[in-house]
Amino acid sequence: MTVSIKPIDPVSRPFFAGEVSGVDVTKPLSREDVAAIDAGMDQYGVLVFHDQHFTDETQLAFSRNFGELEEASGDLNWGKARRIESAHVNDISNLDNDNQVLARDSRRRLFSLGNRLWHSDSSFKAVPAKYSLLSARVIPSAGGNTEFADMRKAWDDLDAETKKECEGLVCEHSQLYSRSLIGFSDFTDEDRIRFKPVHQRLVRTHPSTGRKSLFLASHAGAIVGWPVPEARAFLRDLTEHATQRKYVYAHQWKQWDAVMWDNRATMHRARPFDPKEVRDMHRTTVASERSTMAEAA
Ligand code: OGA
Ligand code: MN
Repeated sequence: MTVSIKPIDPVSRPFFAGEVSGVDVTKPLSREDVAAIDAGMDQYGVLVFHDQHFTDETQLAFSRNFGELEEASGDLNWGKARRIESAHVNDISNLDNDNQVLARDSRRRLFSLGNRLWHSDSSFKAVPAKYSLLSARVIPSAGGNTEFADMRKAWDDLDAETKKECEGLVCEHSQLYSRSLIGFSDFTDEDRIRFKPVHQRLVRTHPSTGRKSLFLASHAGAIVGWPVPEARAFLRDLTEHATQRKYVYAHQWKQWDAVMWDNRATMHRARPFDPKEVRDMHRTTVASERSTMAEAA
């Protein structure tokens, strides 16, 4: 078997979102296969794999081909009893620790609704995420898509004046900001310390492709040296530009799909579904090697 990668929509998005075939990524991979997938990530930013019957163990093993994994410490229930055993697997489900669907007003569910806002994973950590891999274990009968936006193309298409304004800017990212946007403020003092804002460059250069991209996320709530309202209005305009439909791939899940995306080059968001139905997704996350502040400007 050899890895084959094709654009999902060759006409309108030839360089964004690829579909991988010819490989069972639940099994150990050759060096060549890993290199082909890495090259596909550089080219497409998002890769879709079908029929991958992952367990947490095989998902962890596949993810480790691409670097060190981060812990699921951005979860609201980090440090408490969790449904998922591994500290390196994020619970992206609407289930409680007894596998029951969370009540509509449950604190965990309301916090997780923050995923409905455009974001890049762990931009609220000093060292943000590189790749995220989301495995669909149980999906609802309708809705619950995940959308991805190409932040490289969004950068390329900005006018020269706006690019100049963006270069060199540093944003403050925190889950306290993103949750405040949807009116969630039920944080403990401990959460507020854990989610203290971190600095990230607004424009980053991809370490392997050399392409620039806009590093935006709903977690970004301030720009260093700017008045807050001006910063938020500016970031909102950039986000509106960067998430136009022409930059977006909407993934409609099938059970056992796995989607891997490069958080350095994309944003993503969850779409709604019937809260009475089960949606159980498990996410592993490869950490970046350094903070964006330590990356070349
Ligand atoms: C994530 C995420 C979106 C979704 O897992 O990081 O944002 O559709 N998920 O569940
Ligand atoms: Mn996410």
